Amino acid sequence: MAEAFAPGKCILFGEHAVVFGHPAVAVAIDQGVTVNISESNKWILDGQEFSPEKHPHISHTINELFNYQGRPLNINISSNLFSAAGLGSSAALSNAFGAALYHHMKQGTDIDRIRLAKYAHSAEANAQKGRASPTDTATSSLGGCVVVSGSHVLGTKHIFDTKLLTPEGQREWSINIVELPLSIRESWLVLGFTGEGAPTGKMVEKVANLLKEKPEKIIEMDTIANITKAGLTALSAGNLEALGIAMNACHERLRSLEVSTRELDDLVLASRPHSYGAKLTGAGGGGCMVALTKDPSRVAEAIEVAGGKPLISTLGSDGVRIIKN
Ligand code: PMV
Repeated sequence: MAEAFAPGKCILFGEHAVVFGHPAVAVAIDQGVTVNISESNKWILDGQEFSPEKHPHISHTINELFNYQGRPLNINISSNLFSAAGLGSSAALSNAFGAALYHHMKQGTDIDRIRLAKYAHSAEANAQKGRASPTDTATSSLGGCVVVSGSHVLGTKHIFDTKLLTPEGQREWSINIVELPLSIRESWLVLGFTGEGAPTGKMVEKVANLLKEKPEKIIEMDTIANITKAGLTALSAGNLEALGIAMNACHERLRSLEVSTRELDDLVLASRPHSYGAKLTGAGGGGCMVALTKDPSRVAEAIEVAGGKPLISTLGSDGVRIIKN
């Protein structure tokens, strides 16, 4: 038997600009996915017969990544993340399952987190027609604060490089981390889910079409990159006021790229009176917003009153871990 937990993630800065090679900053959150596996006489997932087509992340991990030849497994998955909300639930599932399976196969040895992040990225790409950014999988595996970029980012610690052959050609990323100061622990993130899914592929395409129609909007990518740099400096120094200002500024640029919605704007505005800053997080078009605050219960209440579903988290939770064996 083995049980592993992997956290979800929240993008603080750089969504959409990262598609153009600029850095994105993500933090692991407290909520995530737990996977329990035990040997059985047939393959079972959540009490039902296991169907590989319905669970491509899991079947890819079993067959292609680990080449598991052992006895059938009884797999149980539980999650306290909103799914399809941009919180990285499928990456967390791939990491938690990969960690549990490795632990089971190697009789209690923990998998290297970098190797796991690469495996989980491959499982995501396999399930998403070859297109997947490593942001969710790296953040869920490593934990803390992760910076993903086309090249190394000044002021961060380089961890590994990764690449993927996508239908648009080869893409390469540099995965870096930032140590968060202790003072960050005095603040909280409150995520607000609009209740609508965040269609990542569709939103990336929407931005590409907007740039074809209005090429002058490309300036927003550089502006977001500058805001990301300022946000990273504030984050490393534990300067919550400056961090909040950068989050507000980032939201305005994402609005200019037309990826926000009325529902996201409503939740952002409802949170701001009790927050340092608030913005949409991830692809937009639905999904979640995030606020930085010292008063999480008030912000959660404001989000609920404005029609959203709140989730309170610390900034930069630990990465994937075995919780029972
Ligand atoms: O909503 P999410 O977590 O899938 O975030 C997408 C972030 C984008 O920059 C819009 C796309 C990407 O691949 O990085």
